[in-house]
Amino acid sequence: MLFPEYRPRRTRLHPALRRMVRETRLHPDNFILPLFAIGGKDVRNPIEAMPGHYQLSLDHLAATALEAYRLGIPAVILFGIPDAKDPLAKAAYADDGIVQQAVKAVKDKVPELLVTTDVCLCAYTDHGHCGVVRDQVVDNDASLELLARTAVSHAAAGADMVAPSDMMDGRVAAIRLALDEAGHENLPIMSYAAKYRSSYYGPFRQAADSAPRFGDRRTYQMDPANAREAIREAMMDMEEGADIVMVKPALAYLDIICRIREQCDLPLAAYNVSGEYSMIKAADRMGWIDGTAVMMETLTAIRRAGADMILTYFAMDAARLLNQ
Ligand code: PBG
Ligand code: ZN
Repeated sequence: MLFPEYRPRRTRLHPALRRMVRETRLHPDNFILPLFAIGGKDVRNPIEAMPGHYQLSLDHLAATALEAYRLGIPAVILFGIPDAKDPLAKAAYADDGIVQQAVKAVKDKVPELLVTTDVCLCAYTDHGHCGVVRDQVVDNDASLELLARTAVSHAAAGADMVAPSDMMDGRVAAIRLALDEAGHENLPIMSYAAKYRSSYYGPFRQAADSAPRFGDRRTYQMDPANAREAIREAMMDMEEGADIVMVKPALAYLDIICRIREQCDLPLAAYNVSGEYSMIKAADRMGWIDGTAVMMETLTAIRRAGADMILTYFAMDAARLLNQ
């Protein structure tokens, strides 16, 4: 493969041939849209660092879900902002909790849409950690029961898939067992398998009001310096019964997506997180980059690295563009 016999530009010259040799495709089918549910009526609180995203009351939430469905986006993932927080995150597994209500509202309005729920406790605990705190430490095993209870209550409300994001050890097995016992043996689990302790979550914590009130998440989320450990996490979740594994964040962790894609046969999701979205939106607003072009390049790169599906705040913007 040497010049002048081989000229890589030959397959780049004709636009049709460029299309034919393209290795990666983006399609609205690849997207999962995150939505934030809050109580009240006709509430649409803008999330400052995430232009175009809002904390939505159920009426607006269902309308947005319908809009997403009409754009060809197959799935949403719901996050809740509860009215009250307490040490045991009671609002996370209450039958009439905000996510449980949101699931029903979306399923009522758009039955065909796949409704996924984020299963975690951090937005519901008064201390803001993803599990139960005992002596200033997050107690792994005590958290499992509450996470499992949360997942079962989402399933009972009609969720089509649950996505545990807490990073407690053994939570996939605990959730699988609890779902099966409650008769939800066909409900898939998408586990946040390799979730890093990332500063890219900043805007989300503002959106979901889920920042830890003391300390940080280093004792449960992964160290950004580790790659081999991500493989172990993915394998462990697979063996515990995960149906889809996820890498999060996406852009600074494309190597992790690539490695898990090679070593694990499960469908793979990547979370293009809030900070990744905010950076592109901010630079676009400054006139420093072409935000639309950078969005498409970023989403393509995440697919190229090996992700089957992308959780992204760009889902609607990108789907609109792809549908043109
Ligand atoms: C809750 C959760 C977080 C995100 C998804 N689920 C925040 C965190 O772990 O602190 C981040 C999503 C984003 O930044 O877009 N555990
Ligand atoms: Zn959490």
